[in-house]
Amino acid sequence: MTISDQINRLKEEKDAVILAHYYVPSEVQDIADYVGDSFYLSKVATELDCSAIVFAGVQFMGESAKILNPEKRVFMPDASADCPMAHMVDPGKIDSVRAENDDLAVVCYINSTAETKTLSDVCVTSANAVKIVQDLPQKNIFFVPDQHLGSFVAQQAPDKKVILNDGFCPIHHQLTREEVLKAKAEYPDAPFLAHPECPAEVLAEADYIGSTTGIIKHATESDAKEFIIGTATGVFHDLERKNPGKKFHAVISRQTCPDMDKVSLEKILDTLENETGEVFVSDEIREKALIPLERMLEMSK
Ligand code: 13P
Ligand code: SF4
Repeated sequence: MTISDQINRLKEEKDAVILAHYYVPSEVQDIADYVGDSFYLSKVATELDCSAIVFAGVQFMGESAKILNPEKRVFMPDASADCPMAHMVDPGKIDSVRAENDDLAVVCYINSTAETKTLSDVCVTSANAVKIVQDLPQKNIFFVPDQHLGSFVAQQAPDKKVILNDGFCPIHHQLTREEVLKAKAEYPDAPFLAHPECPAEVLAEADYIGSTTGIIKHATESDAKEFIIGTATGVFHDLERKNPGKKFHAVISRQTCPDMDKVSLEKILDTLENETGEVFVSDEIREKALIPLERMLEMSK
């Protein structure tokens, strides 16, 4: 029996569903029941009829799935797979910005800890951040933790005063305008599609800016035959699957998310077999963190 057969057998036995982000290794995406961006996966997590969720992703994703589904058991194949940006918020800073600004909403990127969510008014993902910020009644927005998504939102929602935090995703933050220009010189016919976690100087060179789902959809609908991709290269699996005749280039050679890369078929099998990596969130945190997550789902309709 192959490892995939074993996983499928155990999945049925334990009434489990596997969710996977586009950044995890290809073979993990292939075994998953649902593959998508952070928004899609959080929405799917509220619609599942199963006893257990195995989340092939990083901690904030498993945590959000548990917050949205307290009655289900949620497992992470590698509990140490974590998003470093999720921790780049100082709770004391949130308190002081709240104290200094009237008419303020704290908007937290879903790439954040459950504790940060308890201090926030609404969550967003890269797919809905602009729309949600535009639709908020407050004039002042404290956007945490990502400075780059925050500054992209500020640019797209000029009626708002967006206060930025200093967090960043190490994978997107390392990209520079110079490297993008180099890639454009090498592939002059390739549009540059970038994730809004990239720095502003990189986004200024982009032909399209969007979430991982947005990038895949844009490339699939485009007539262009090759593309330069400004996000983690895990998306190449779905890009290539949906676009057999098209070519995809990274901006630089090390453009993968090391934490997403920790997820493997062996670890998924171990999780299902031995029930390792279960996610627990205290009732107190869960009840408060649920509010901004549910508000995001409501405001995205
Ligand atoms: P999306 O899933 O919203 O495209 O964001 C990418 C990301 O960095 C997830 O950690
Ligand atoms: Fe976090 Fe960046 Fe990895 Fe996404 S790609 S999980 S933001 S470290």
